[in-house]
Amino acid sequence: MGLFDFMGTGKSEAVGVDIGTSSIKAVHLDLRKARPIFKNFAIARLKKGSIQTSNRIIAGKQISKILSFSLNKSQIKCRTASFSVPNFSSFISFVTIPKVTEEQLSSKLEEEARKFIPVPLSEVSLGWEIIKDYNKKRAMEMKSKKDTMKILLMAIANDTIKKYETIAKKSNLNLQSIEAENFSLIRCLIDKENKKKTTLILDIGSRICNILVVYNGFLRGTRNVDVGGGDISNAISRALNIDLLRAEEMKKQGGLQDSRIKDLILPIIGRISQETKRMQETYNSKNPNSPIEQILLVGGTSKLKGFKEVLAKDLNIPIFDGDPWTRVKFDKEQEAILRDHQDELAVAIGVAMNGLD
Ligand SMILES: Nc1ncnc2c1ncn2[C@@H]1O[C@H](COP(=O)(O)OP(=O)(O)OP(=O)(O)O)[C@@H](O)[C@H]1O
Ligand SMILES: [Mg+2]
Repeated sequence: MGLFDFMGTGKSEAVGVDIGTSSIKAVHLDLRKARPIFKNFAIARLKKGSIQTSNRIIAGKQISKILSFSLNKSQIKCRTASFSVPNFSSFISFVTIPKVTEEQLSSKLEEEARKFIPVPLSEVSLGWEIIKDYNKKRAMEMKSKKDTMKILLMAIANDTIKKYETIAKKSNLNLQSIEAENFSLIRCLIDKENKKKTTLILDIGSRICNILVVYNGFLRGTRNVDVGGGDISNAISRALNIDLLRAEEMKKQGGLQDSRIKDLILPIIGRISQETKRMQETYNSKNPNSPIEQILLVGGTSKLKGFKEVLAKDLNIPIFDGDPWTRVKFDKEQEAILRDHQDELAVAIGVAMNGLD
C-alpha cells in the first residue's frame, strides 16, 4: 500500500527501514525481478534506553547517525528508502458508510476521519482503502449492489512524516514512502496460503506488542499493547538485582526454560496472551463466519525460549513462526543467518517491498 508514496513506484531497489524501540533495522532488496532478491541487512541494537516514546521520535539526530553508520558498515549503498512508522504514530479506523459515488467518496471520508482523528485534518496525511476488494474499480462497480461500503481509513501526522523526512535526509537517503508497520507485516507474512486463513499476527518487540487480524490479505483489526521484551528484562534485573544487560542475556539464553527467571517472565507472557485472547474473541464474535484460524509470531520477543508453548496452551489455536522471507529470494548459504534474524527484520523486509503489491 503506497499510502504516502512520494515518488511513485517502479524503483529497482530499496532499503526498508524500521526504527524500533530498542533497535534500528534495515533491509536492502533488489526489486527488478518479480521476486525481490535479498542484498543485505543491518541491525543496530541500542544497549540502553529507547529511541521512541509513545507518540514521537526522540533524538532524531542520533537515529540518523546510527542509521548511516550501520548502512555504511553493512555496505548498503542503495539510497532509495521506504520507512515504516510505529502503529502508535498512525491512526487507523474501519468505517462503514452509505454507498456514495467516487466523486463524493473523499469528502465523505474526510467527514468520517474527523470523528476518530484527534487533531485537525490539515495536520495529517489521510489515506484509505476499500475493504474486501483488492481492486478499487471493482469495488466501485460492486457498490451498486450493496447499500454500504466498508473502508479502512488511515492517517499519519504531518509532523511525524516531517520527522522521518529529516531522518532520511540526514542519513543521506531518498525517502520514497512511509507506511504504518502493520501494512509492512501483512505484505511480507501473508502469502497465498496464509491469505486463505483468517490470521492473527503478533509482533512482540521490546516495548510494544502489535496485534493485528488479517482476512483475505486485508487488515481487519488492530491493537497495540504496551508490553514487550523490555518489561521482561526489567523484571529480571529488578528481582535478581543484576544490571539490565546481564538480565537481557539471561532472558535470551534460558527464557522460560530457566527456573530462576521463569516465574518472573510468566506474568508478562500472561498479559500478552490475555490481550491476544481478547482480540480473538472480539473479532470472532463480530465475524462468526470467518473466525481466526491461526497465529503468526514475529518480533524479537517471540524468540523467547518456551514462549510458543505457553501461548499455545493459553490460546488453543495453531501458532506458527511468521516467515517474512516468503516473497524474497536469497542464497542457500545465507539462510541460517537470515532465519536467525527474521523475527526482528520482518517489518523492515515488508516495508522494503512497499510498492510491489
Ligand atoms: N532470543 C531471544 N529471546 C528473548 N528475547 C529476545 C531474543 N532476541 C531478541 N529478544 C528481544 O526482542 C526485543 C527486540 O525485538 P524487536 O527488534 O522486534 O523490537 P523493537 O522493534 O526494537 O521494539 P518495538 O517493536 O517494541 O518498538 C528485545 O526486547 C530483545 O531483548
Ligand atoms: Mg518493532
